[in-house]
Amino acid sequence: MVPSRVGVLGRGLVPADEPVLRADDLGVLRGDGLFETMHLRAGRPWLREAHLARLRRGAEAVELTLPDDATLVELLDSVAAGWPAEVEGALRLVCTRGPEGGGPATVYATLSAVPAATRQVRRDGVRVATLSLGVPAEARPELGWLPAGIKSTSYGASTAARRWAARAGVDDVLWVSSDGYLLEGPTANVVWLVDDTLCAVPAGRTGILPGTTAAWLLDQAGRVGCDAAERMVTPSGLRAADGVWLTSSVRGLVAVLSLDGEPLPRSPRTPALQDLLGFPVP
Ligand SMILES: Cc1ncc(COP(=O)(O)O)c(C=O)c1O
Repeated sequence: MVPSRVGVLGRGLVPADEPVLRADDLGVLRGDGLFETMHLRAGRPWLREAHLARLRRGAEAVELTLPDDATLVELLDSVAAGWPAEVEGALRLVCTRGPEGGGPATVYATLSAVPAATRQVRRDGVRVATLSLGVPAEARPELGWLPAGIKSTSYGASTAARRWAARAGVDDVLWVSSDGYLLEGPTANVVWLVDDTLCAVPAGRTGILPGTTAAWLLDQAGRVGCDAAERMVTPSGLRAADGVWLTSSVRGLVAVLSLDGEPLPRSPRTPALQDLLGFPVP
């Protein structure tokens, strides 16, 4: 996504092709930072409060001092101001630890139009493969010292998984723990339907990112006649489900067509769930 707009805390809007980071910014040197990506719809960031709350939990976990919410909201508003209501946007807020040797956090926001290819997968679905993460499902939160469930700018494992997916000829992956449980994708949560219950993986137990989209969907499941539950699931459990989707803030809800080459049932509920979430389907 090429940013159309960039706003930097303390500087205001800057030309989108102008550099905004110092060469020694710890976000670049160490991946030491946090970010949130929000879906801009009708010119406003959807689930902004949930995103800011997750950012703040992450900041506490990594001991990063952030400006207050009003300041962050002002920055987001300045970047989103005047954006055409009919154009879906991806509004990203990035907060790094700032320059090496100490200094205030670097905080900036970018806004880009959601690419057509991203919107199209809402209609077409994705083919997914499982990929071993090499650790037991509950290992990460049990460590205690390692912040889990934070949206860190350190995305090395995610980009490696994405490259692996491209080599394997699939659209996306789902990480599987060494004890056989599905966890999440590199940039998405997995949600599945069993009878009339919409299920998601428990973030607290596994250390996956607690997705804002999946949480909202499960919270609102009653509006489409479903119950909601957090459950552990294996690949064979997922194959037996009545529907499987990936959820994330910009893609929205995307049907998983196949898992490791095996077709999954296409759920007739996909349009109703997409409608509930309010992501336009091309
Ligand atoms: C690892 C990971 N899991 C899940 C998600 C989905 O979270 P959300 O719905 O808040 O975008 C993301 C989003 O980028 C992610 O990076």
